[in-house]
Amino acid sequence: MDSATINRLQEAARQAAAHAYAPYSKFRVGAALLFDDGFVAVGCNVENLSYGLTMCAERNAVSNAVTQRGASGKIVAVAVTNLNAAASPPCGGCRQVLSEFVSDDAVVSFPGDNGLELRPFRELFPFAFHLEGH
Ligand code: THU
Repeated sequence: MDSATINRLQEAARQAAAHAYAPYSKFRVGAALLFDDGFVAVGCNVENLSYGLTMCAERNAVSNAVTQRGASGKIVAVAVTNLNAAASPPCGGCRQVLSEFVSDDAVVSFPGDNGLELRPFRELFPFAFHLEGH
């Protein structure tokens, strides 16, 4: 994945993060998903007073993509960022949800402890749960 594409997705994620609803944690997250046909879906985190109902940016991006165009296509790149100048790799639950839609060689960019990290999805989510035939 070329760096211009990664930067463009990071910028889309940053713009989505500006819409985050995070009055409890104040941690504003944005995600952008690039599909194999060029489609880009974005999401931000949406918190709830009943904390467990909070939805992460990455999973909202997946829901937005499916809502807008159905479940066709594969994600080739995921970008995650936050407006808090902190590290924010996608959480475990989001990795499970993303795994449903990623291509075999999808890459994930996110703020790490030492700047932007770029990792293959399969490295972030080895030994994925799967059922025979799915
Ligand atoms: N959050 C995300 O949006 N994505 C993640 O992968 C991890 C956490 C959100 C959830 C909550 O609103 C805030 O970050 C603090 O946990």
